[in-house]
Amino acid sequence: MHTPELLDLAQKRLLATYRPQPIVAAHGRGAELFDVAGNRYLDFCAGVAVCCLGHAHPELARTISEQAARLIQVSNYFYNEENILLADELCGVTGFDRAFFCNSGAEANEAVLKLARRHFHGTGETDRVRVICFERAFHGRTMATVTMGGTEAYRVGFGPPLGGIEHVPYGDLEAVRAKMGPDVAAIHVEPVQGEGGVLPAPPGFLSGLRVIADEYGALLTMDEVQTGIARSGKMLAAEHFDVRADAVALAKGLGGGFPIGAMLVREALAESLPTGTHGSTFGGNPLASAAARTVLRVVCEEGLMERAAARGQRLGAGLAAVAARYPTLCRGERGLGLLRALVLQDQVQARDLLGPAREQGLLVTAAGASALRFTPPLVITDAEVDEAVAKLDATLRIHSAAHGGP
Ligand SMILES: Cc1ncc(COP(=O)(O)O)c(C=O)c1O
Repeated sequence: MHTPELLDLAQKRLLATYRPQPIVAAHGRGAELFDVAGNRYLDFCAGVAVCCLGHAHPELARTISEQAARLIQVSNYFYNEENILLADELCGVTGFDRAFFCNSGAEANEAVLKLARRHFHGTGETDRVRVICFERAFHGRTMATVTMGGTEAYRVGFGPPLGGIEHVPYGDLEAVRAKMGPDVAAIHVEPVQGEGGVLPAPPGFLSGLRVIADEYGALLTMDEVQTGIARSGKMLAAEHFDVRADAVALAKGLGGGFPIGAMLVREALAESLPTGTHGSTFGGNPLASAAARTVLRVVCEEGLMERAAARGQRLGAGLAAVAARYPTLCRGERGLGLLRALVLQDQVQARDLLGPAREQGLLVTAAGASALRFTPPLVITDAEVDEAVAKLDATLRIHSAAHGGP
């Protein structure tokens, strides 16, 4: 089918919860994506920071097809080898001790929330149910995770929110301290706020949270759904800040495009969700587990952490140069590794630049109102980074000419 007919059918048959750009993806290779009309794009969305190995990575494709021909799903009534080995390997590369598997980032964050509350139920501190979260945070779209998230608009119209979740400004240790008490079960935080605008934690913030959590006997839990699995240039972004969480939520890059989520915890929390207290039918299935094992192996063997750091610096320098050329449109750049943003002036809406960038052959996303987000595959080359920066420059040149010059 051609693009116009497909778009008509989409309008008729899909719930309009999203506002997709008007192209229909057909296939990809590495950082390149092609639509059904044969147009080529440089994909700096990459499934929203998911396709860390790029599109159609031969080893990931082979793993998925061979595992699908062997065993896809068995349920958690039985063990499966791929899942046991994934748990061991994931703990090995992150320094955590135990894993729970699920299917998405929201589900992983729900698991963290349940773990924190159930942990204190188990220790007899049954009143410890409050969880401190942050303004502009994003943790998913289920009822619990929109309550944990810091965007009021995502909660409107969905009835009473989950109780016991409170928000404070990101980066404000005094505001956190003011909310603390013996009834706080956890402080839950992203080391870099992704959807909120690609905001790395300010210096001293995460270590300050660790101190406060310890002082009050609460858990420090992290959402590394977007930042985890090498995207920031380290396996977990918390490593940049030398801070260890008690539990972490992962998803996105873990499967390289195949859906999988995980919660990792320290050994001290191994008994916090006793048998029967939590579960997920598809969680830890052999197909997703095999895919994630291949992702971890390729990330380590191909040095993708180091590549994310190096290409991230190159991308950051390119974005900074573009920002300097168009000061009436841009304020600068920020981010870590290959999670970066061009920060726009207040009067420029990031979403207004998505179509113009696409017309130059560059796919990017908006993070918050004023950040244009770049999350390319970790296998991106220097030449592709430079090509993307040139396309961005052309986008802003045309935009600024149409709106009265730089
Ligand atoms: C930091 C963070 N947490 C959670 C989620 C939700 O993940 P999912 O859409 O897989 O439920 C996202 C998705 O963008 C995210 O960026």
